[in-house]
Amino acid sequence: MSTSEHVLSIPDLIAKKRDGLELSPNEIQQFITGLSNGDVQDCHVGAMLMAIYIQGMTEREICSMTMSMRDSGERLSWPNYRGIVVDKHSTGGIGDKISIPLAPALAACQMKVPMMSGRGLGITGGTLDKLESIPGYQTQLTDEQIVQLITNVGCGIFSQSVKLNPADRYLYSIRDVTATVPSNALIVSSILSKKAIEDLDGLVLDIKYGSSAFMKTPENAEVLADWLFKVSELLGMKTCCYITEMNNPIGYCIGNALEIQESLDLMKYKQGHSADLEDLICEQGGRLLLLTKKAQTIEEGREMIRDTFKNGSALQKFHDMIIGQGVSPSIAAQLVSNDENAVQSILKLSDVTHQAISTQKGYVQSIASFNLGTIVQRLGGGRLKSTDKLDFSVGIRLLKHVGDSVQENEPWAILYAPHDASKRYPSFLDDLNSSLVVSLTPVQPLQRIYKILA
Ligand code: URA
Repeated sequence: MSTSEHVLSIPDLIAKKRDGLELSPNEIQQFITGLSNGDVQDCHVGAMLMAIYIQGMTEREICSMTMSMRDSGERLSWPNYRGIVVDKHSTGGIGDKISIPLAPALAACQMKVPMMSGRGLGITGGTLDKLESIPGYQTQLTDEQIVQLITNVGCGIFSQSVKLNPADRYLYSIRDVTATVPSNALIVSSILSKKAIEDLDGLVLDIKYGSSAFMKTPENAEVLADWLFKVSELLGMKTCCYITEMNNPIGYCIGNALEIQESLDLMKYKQGHSADLEDLICEQGGRLLLLTKKAQTIEEGREMIRDTFKNGSALQKFHDMIIGQGVSPSIAAQLVSNDENAVQSILKLSDVTHQAISTQKGYVQSIASFNLGTIVQRLGGGRLKSTDKLDFSVGIRLLKHVGDSVQENEPWAILYAPHDASKRYPSFLDDLNSSLVVSLTPVQPLQRIYKILA
């Protein structure tokens, strides 16, 4: 800290931000350091987050915040990997399981993918929660375990820890309960501080907009994307931002165990897997191959990723990754086998099912992902309080996608519900049934990508 700068108390720092003044890099660092040395208490954090939420932050503040959070713990370092360490991060959506097949697919293309992921936030599902529906899967790894996994297998999907970005862990948990999640400054620093720890050569960010995303409009998503792009460039990370639609669920499945089943179906390249999911993964993975010059064009990059699904190499990497993260070899072997009964017996779904039936003949115009995300969350597939234990067996399997034709009285979704569903969420069936919008005239399949900032 420079000797000329007067050191303010923590309440004075909060007041400065509350009054719309810019905090200096030293002041931001003082606040972030205070999270771990005891100078800053939960009440200070809540007040500061709300001040940031209301006043926003300047570019200098966001950069300082990101770097101070990155430096709140250890950083990962790799044994001389040149230009091949990559990652992808999404702001969160419904049915968004892109990371789960993407990390192994990239590893199968000889990339190194240390994917530090998050848990569900609000109605949006979390990659770590989904993976924990696999018995034995460990999300908390030591730095040594991460480096070993990335060296031996090429990919790992794990959480922050007391050593890796403890500041984000702390701030994230307080944001979730103080209505301060949807702040551009806080989202940018949260995402990029995690990515900056990984010492990346390429990063793809997927910024969602729509009814079930933090950003409700493409215009707001674009403002966030601009910030993410600018700050990541300032931090020296080669980044590409996708702005994608999140009014309709991604793929056919929503819910923890179901989304692992759907990810496995894609990695096995089973007939009937979701083309919507496959295309988004090939696009974002292909972009990382292009960013790191492993592909000469985006078309080549997309095909390289698609080939890893067709030839089983992504599935093999997934098998090796989950064993490296604590799953027993026998469970891993059953999951990647073609024995559907074995897969279902591991990734158990609730035996209480409800069908959603179309009341009209026509074409699927939209499927309200906000409703479906809310139903899964309220029935136990997501958290209402941070201490809630998840019910992995809850989920919704869609039988239709936007653009498909549908008959009157035809089922369009199956809900796997807990036994006490009506008690937990009395209107769940009405909300499910009202989520389908049918058009009398043909509807084009969904265009997910709104814009790419590269
Ligand atoms: N993902 C994150 O990691 N942080 C946020 O704040 C939002 C989405």
